[in-house]
Amino acid sequence: LKLNVVVAEAALELVPTELQRTTVVRNDSLRRGVNPSRMLLDRSFHHVAMLKLKDDFKRGRPDIVHATLLSLTSTPLYLDGFVTVYVHTHGDIVLEIKEGTRLPKSYLRFRGLMEKVLSEGGGEGLITMRKATIRELLKDIQPDWVCGLSTQGVSMSLEELSGKVIARKNPCIMIGGFPHGHFSSETLKQVDELVRIHSRPLEAHVVAARLLYVIEKRIEEKRTND
Ligand SMILES: C[S@@+](CC[C@H](N)C(=O)[O-])C[C@H]1O[C@@H](n2cnc3c(N)ncnc32)[C@H](O)[C@@H]1O
Repeated sequence: LKLNVVVAEAALELVPTELQRTTVVRNDSLRRGVNPSRMLLDRSFHHVAMLKLKDDFKRGRPDIVHATLLSLTSTPLYLDGFVTVYVHTHGDIVLEIKEGTRLPKSYLRFRGLMEKVLSEGGGEGLITMRKATIRELLKDIQPDWVCGLSTQGVSMSLEELSGKVIARKNPCIMIGGFPHGHFSSETLKQVDELVRIHSRPLEAHVVAARLLYVIEKRIEEKRTND
């Protein structure tokens, strides 16, 4: 089993050009001593400027990506090499987190790392960057099953879902990396099954941790039974 996890349409991007001259962004830039074009868009600081941005409710939350990546890359399943993690951003940039990458636990360090990667086009060794849509990313991964997780999906227990995952060789699971709203129609077109794992809407990092834990247990069970 090689499980591909895509944090899809993630709210991670540099401040878009049309916002770089706004007062809040310029003040933040002066305070940090970083050029606006090299800063992450962050709702906590740029809220007022973001109000006119298209899809603003789905953008500017790098903290969600940070928490989700920490959840994924801290699990035994990832540490044992069963999982490849990708971040697909709202702006169609794909970051691949190579095996063995230790991401910064501190948000400030994570922000610095992402600003460097996105401004310089990757180059941080264990994180590569390329321009790609979800469709293009999936063409590279060549998964034998694509499952999107969404509150709009068909209700399924994590146990059942994990059974489906471990029955495949190269499955792909997509978790939304955004605070509100749902997958775009472009993303939905790529999905074989859309699954809801709980009656409540949950945070992406909770979904990530639960999913990997249940798959881990399933793999262990299979090993003992074989
Ligand atoms: C904070 S949610 C996005 C908000 C959105 N309103 C929603 O309810 O899906 C982030 C992601 O976590 C996953 N997620 C959250 N709750 C879920 C649930 N009950 N079942 C399946 N996936 C869920 C989805 O992939 C979602 O895109």
